[in-house]
Amino acid sequence: MTAQIISGTEIAAEIREELKAKVEELKKRGITPGLAMVRVGEDPASVSYVSGKSKASEELGIYSETIVFPEDAKEEEVLAKVEELNKDPKFHGILVQLPLPKQIDTDKILNTIDPRKDVDGFHPVNVGRLLIGEPYFMPCTPHGIQQLLVRSGNSPEGKHVVICGRSNIVGKPLMAILVQKKKGANATVTVCHTGTKNLAAITRQADILVAAMGSAKAITADMVKEGAVVIDVGVNRIPDATKKSGFRLVGDTDFDAIKEKAKAITPVPGGVGPMTVTMLMVNTVRAAEMQSA
Ligand SMILES: NC(=O)c1ccc[n+]([C@@H]2O[C@H](COP(=O)([O-])OP(=O)(O)OC[C@H]3O[C@@H](n4cnc5c(N)ncnc54)[C@H](OP(=O)(O)O)[C@@H]3O)[C@@H](O)[C@H]2O)c1
Repeated sequence: MTAQIISGTEIAAEIREELKAKVEELKKRGITPGLAMVRVGEDPASVSYVSGKSKASEELGIYSETIVFPEDAKEEEVLAKVEELNKDPKFHGILVQLPLPKQIDTDKILNTIDPRKDVDGFHPVNVGRLLIGEPYFMPCTPHGIQQLLVRSGNSPEGKHVVICGRSNIVGKPLMAILVQKKKGANATVTVCHTGTKNLAAITRQADILVAAMGSAKAITADMVKEGAVVIDVGVNRIPDATKKSGFRLVGDTDFDAIKEKAKAITPVPGGVGPMTVTMLMVNTVRAAEMQSA
């Protein structure tokens, strides 16, 4: 069996088309969804992520602004900016690009964002609301994974989902999303981590296996049940002399071997990645709808 390749690029494009219509509806009512992004320093990955989000906003007709602080910015300056953005009705969503330099307390900054503008879904109020099944916003990567599953015809309902990784941005919120007694969820969820004994024995029980470990090709074909659906969240650089950059990106799964065994699998790149930015756009539009209701 050769697996169905679940294209995040295609599913993200489908969602963006739907969003355009929602943005049009809001504009007819005189509302332009607005997204404020705060970046501190010039970390190349952060610069690239923020510019990708800004480009996606522009394509959808969402107004966005990026506020850039120098690497040595003081915590109080960033906090004051977030407080100002909380009050600014132009912006329905606020995002602070992580990681922040070490002199700034990340939790303090995230906890200052108004939960109704917290389009990353990282504020403790949103984390708590997610767990009880009433989120204002779902964090973008796990929400994108749910959409990939549902829209590719691989609904998690009634399935055993095994998630490898328990980070606050992927593993834990994905667990909280998929365990809800809701459409597109209602799964039996197992979360694994480095404290898990005999990982392979658990991953082999998965109808849907999610790899979010940050470890190149850590999930091998023998760890996957025949006919399982595999979602690869990992983005890892491995040396590749044939590339100009000297490296290439691989996921957390051994894609080539697993695709001969799985029912469906996401590629890296082109799987989960394009969904993350798209779900940020979904949250921004939702924020504008909520704040104008
Ligand atoms: N495409 C996207 O949009 C997107 C978004 C976010 C993240 N990512 C990628 O997804 C990956 C995970 O990101 P993250 O932020 O969730 O990572 P993270 O914070 O580093 O967490 C990794 C998790 O995996 C677990 N883990 C690591 N190695 C393991 C192993 N051998 N066996 C079992 N569990 C293991 C860790 O367990 P412990 O808790 O025990 O340490 C931890 O819970 C990274 O490659 C990241 O770049 C991609």
